[in-house]
Amino acid sequence: MKKYFLYTLLGCVILSVLFSFENLNVENKGLKELTTFPIGTAVRVDQLQSDAKLKELQIHNFNSITAENDMKMYNVKPNEEEYNWEKVDKVIAYGDTNEQRIFGHTLIWHSGTPDWVEKKGRKDTLWLDNFLKTYIFEYVSRYKGKVDGWDVVNEAFDTKGGNYRKTLWYDVLGKEYIAKAFSYAHEADPAAKLFYNDFNIERDTAKLHAMLKMVNDLKNDNVPISGIGFQMHIRVDVPDEIIEYSLKKAVETGLQIHLSEVDIIFNKHDDSKNGGVQKYQELTEEMKIAQAEKYKNLVKMYKEIVPKNQQYGITFWGFTDRDTWVRSFFNIDDWPCLFDDNLEPKPAYYAFKEALN
Ligand code: G3I
Repeated sequence: MKKYFLYTLLGCVILSVLFSFENLNVENKGLKELTTFPIGTAVRVDQLQSDAKLKELQIHNFNSITAENDMKMYNVKPNEEEYNWEKVDKVIAYGDTNEQRIFGHTLIWHSGTPDWVEKKGRKDTLWLDNFLKTYIFEYVSRYKGKVDGWDVVNEAFDTKGGNYRKTLWYDVLGKEYIAKAFSYAHEADPAAKLFYNDFNIERDTAKLHAMLKMVNDLKNDNVPISGIGFQMHIRVDVPDEIIEYSLKKAVETGLQIHLSEVDIIFNKHDDSKNGGVQKYQELTEEMKIAQAEKYKNLVKMYKEIVPKNQQYGITFWGFTDRDTWVRSFFNIDDWPCLFDDNLEPKPAYYAFKEALN
């Protein structure tokens, strides 16, 4: 009896030592080590090269990158005469060196279109049609085998509701520009995964259903689309139920699902530049906990709803409050990321980690 008691005690001690080692292990692990799907972040490569602590955090936690701005049309084709590959090459070199998946963002996007294309394209339909083809073909071929997937078309629907956004591309070429863009990209790199990417589709059901109809039409027409990107710029009070519903609907397409630009804010905005409303002046402990809970739920929903073979990954739109796009874009103070202004992990980071694990 005494022997039995001693053995049990010994067993308990061994188990608890193992458990605390495992915990320590998880504590030291980066996000990327805790999951089977890639964990990405938007990056500004020049900044990473000049900020050692930021770079260390980036490499420790992420195994996928999306250039926040460096791969957009306004950078790649600043004028008619030349392609500027310099910034893109740097992104590719960074990803290669650090063994991270490279995601291309974005080929066709109204906000990424430089003024000279806008002006010329509005006057000359044939030219724009040809430019769409040449630009995509040259770009995707150049990085064939290097870029794993592309946001081929970004934000083709209005901010709210289910109408197509009236952009240069839509006005001049009709909605067929979307199918053409996917086909050209596929022709240039048949192995690349090709995404349609948009915002608010996790909470605006009219927009979600319009997007799904478009995606299903493309599939029925054998247009080579591989995935849907939910940008997932959300606020802490967006109900989980609506996100759950939207993910389930998207999963039904059978396509890859990418949470492509995740961040979670507190304040409100109207989706437009300088359109923020500063409701919260500072980040309190309660707010940190609420945000952590939301990050945790988001991972749980992704893991539970999206089948493994459709999980393209979760990508953050930056990982520090210090550098978030939200502040300059909406002209408000906010704290949407996993790390704070001093690059220290927030409760959100630990909650996200816990949910991954
Ligand atoms: O590079 C210039 C700099 O020279 C100048 O001094 C400065 C003054 O404003 O502007 C700098 O350019 C800014 C650029 O970011 C780089 O910081 C642009 O004004 C600014 O408009 C641009 O904003 C980016 C925006 O897309 C438009 O391209 C944001 O950083 C970027 O986070 C945001 O990302 C988008 C995704 O691509 C698509 N989904 C929504 C998401 C958030 O808006």
